[in-house]
Amino acid sequence: MQNESNIPRTAAETFWEDIYQKASSQSGGKPGEALARIVRDLTPGRALELGCAKGDDAVWLAKQGWFVTAVDVSPTVLGYARENAHRAGVVDSISFEQHDLSQSAPHGVFDLAYASFFYSPTPLVRAEVFRRAADSVVSGGHLLIIDHGSRAPWSWTAKDTRYPTADEAYASLDLSPDTWRPTQVEGVERLATGPNGEQATVIDTIIFLSRL
Ligand SMILES: C[S@@+](CC[C@H](N)C(=O)[O-])C[C@H]1O[C@@H](n2cnc3c(N)ncnc32)[C@H](O)[C@@H]1O
Repeated sequence: MQNESNIPRTAAETFWEDIYQKASSQSGGKPGEALARIVRDLTPGRALELGCAKGDDAVWLAKQGWFVTAVDVSPTVLGYARENAHRAGVVDSISFEQHDLSQSAPHGVFDLAYASFFYSPTPLVRAEVFRRAADSVVSGGHLLIIDHGSRAPWSWTAKDTRYPTADEAYASLDLSPDTWRPTQVEGVERLATGPNGEQATVIDTIIFLSRL
């Protein structure tokens, strides 16, 4: 199958397009809790978001004064995210780019590189994607990765799924301690809401690093 530019779709694009073409364009309208808590203290600059989905985090960043490059593999969800940004009045502060981040990434340098629950069932070497994003962060900038630290009861993943701890996830990035200082590397509890309104306490792993 091909996309609009006649380039054969990757497995990731095929998978996520199928998901988002069947999904509503409506988003939750709120940023991730950890993003809002950690980034509100930073001076706004240029932000890169990996796997932006319907754009709530990119919109929140733009409202805080960041200029955001928001990336996703699915052109459909990028359309939803653009509408979201338009409705929020921040569409001029966000550049939406389609990439399969296993294969390509935006050009440029950033003060913040950010990813929240950047997962895919398709082949994805996350550590490589994160290291490439880390390389694009300027001195004095930050890398923030939010991941699952526990399985929500409504998750589609296998019941015995064990997520890496924050320390394990940080170690897997294999970033040089001469370049990166861990500012916050830990699991944090959050009250999460499932697709049918059910609630459960889950653990998010937070990896928040500062570039020296
Ligand atoms: C689990 S969702 C998380 C979305 C959002 N960041 C959040 O916190 O809810 C993962 C997102 O990453 C995108 N994605 C998955 N694989 C990708 C890839 N190889 N390149 C770029 N985006 C990808 C998907 O389209 C999807 O929007």
